[in-house]
Amino acid sequence: MRVDVITLFPEFVDGCARVGVVGRAQERGLISVTSWNPREFATDNYHTVDGRPYGGGPGMLMLIGPLRDTIAAAKAAAEAPAKVIYLSPQGARLTQRKVQELSVLPRLVLLCGRYEGVDERLLDHEVDEELSIGDYVLSGGELAAAVLIDAIGRLQEGALNDAQSAAQDSFSEGLLDCPHYTRPEQHELGTLPAVLISGDHAAIKRWRLKQSLGRTWLRRPDLLARMQLDKSARALLEE
Ligand code: ADE
Repeated sequence: MRVDVITLFPEFVDGCARVGVVGRAQERGLISVTSWNPREFATDNYHTVDGRPYGGGPGMLMLIGPLRDTIAAAKAAAEAPAKVIYLSPQGARLTQRKVQELSVLPRLVLLCGRYEGVDERLLDHEVDEELSIGDYVLSGGELAAAVLIDAIGRLQEGALNDAQSAAQDSFSEGLLDCPHYTRPEQHELGTLPAVLISGDHAAIKRWRLKQSLGRTWLRRPDLLARMQLDKSARALLEE
């Protein structure tokens, strides 16, 4: 998958994409992240990328011209069709389901806003989808783009070392993840749930599902209200 990020702070996005799972996925050729700076597409001597809002009000908006040319250049850099996503608090809330849907596309162009936002006409004509990572306001879309790249990058086939770990993520079944434990078995902070060392794989699976259900019920009842357990999970709970 190819991701092109349009940002006034390319070094920020490049840094995030060089480390951890996404960095490794880039090394393995599973994803490539390229950043584009609209300042380089500004046509005046000052490389202006922002302007005052018509009608008054605080702050500045990003100009149509440099952004439009940057999007065109990013799109032209590869053949596969690209979905253009604008990161903003006004967008639809990003979910794991949306991440899964985007992770199988060949290309994304992520547009990061700065200042008070972007001229609406550019959004109307050049953007396919607007996404938010939560109900709070960041000073720009870069952190949100990094979040999206990370979430998508780790789902690329071969990005995670244990193929099962993405399937077992929180939210992949619509539930929160269960608790996990590692060495040592005995510790002053507590002992293990005995089932985990019982060797009974069906019992472990059942315990994990119950923990996930319990946690989701306590912490995120809104998720439970929306979900339906599939047949195999219902059968497991009835055992
Ligand atoms: N840009 C500023 N705040 C944002 C948010 N919450 N989500 C996505 N992009 C943003």
